[in-house]
Amino acid sequence: MAIDPQFTENREQVDSHQGHDVWGPVEEPEKLGIHGTHVAVDFDICLGDGACVEDCPVDVFEWVDTPDHPESELKADPANESQCIDCMLCVDVCPVDAIDVDAGRT
Ligand code: F3S
Ligand code: F3S
Ligand code: ZN
Repeated sequence: MAIDPQFTENREQVDSHQGHDVWGPVEEPEKLGIHGTHVAVDFDICLGDGACVEDCPVDVFEWVDTPDHPESELKADPANESQCIDCMLCVDVCPVDAIDVDAGRT
């Protein structure tokens, strides 16, 4: 299952993290929601592949520890989403379609 591109309509912003939004539901440690808005990563789909972290030309992503999450204990956090240049590489390389980037969404 891929990230829902309509998440801003279908979810509620429940928190913020490192300056970006977190879209629920969040029930730690199993459910972590979506981090980011312009560059959005569904933490419940991300399995810590790391291609996005390696390939983003402007280093938008930083690893965060997510102990006891069923998919992986590391997630790619869009910590620097304001730096994104909309190259869409991360969207293309993620093997589980956990990332959605929308140039018109901030
Ligand atoms: Fe980086 Fe993805 Fe933006 S690779 S530049 S965060 S579209
Ligand atoms: Fe996760 Fe996909 Fe990046 S699995 S670490 S969002 S390439
Ligand atoms: Zn975050």
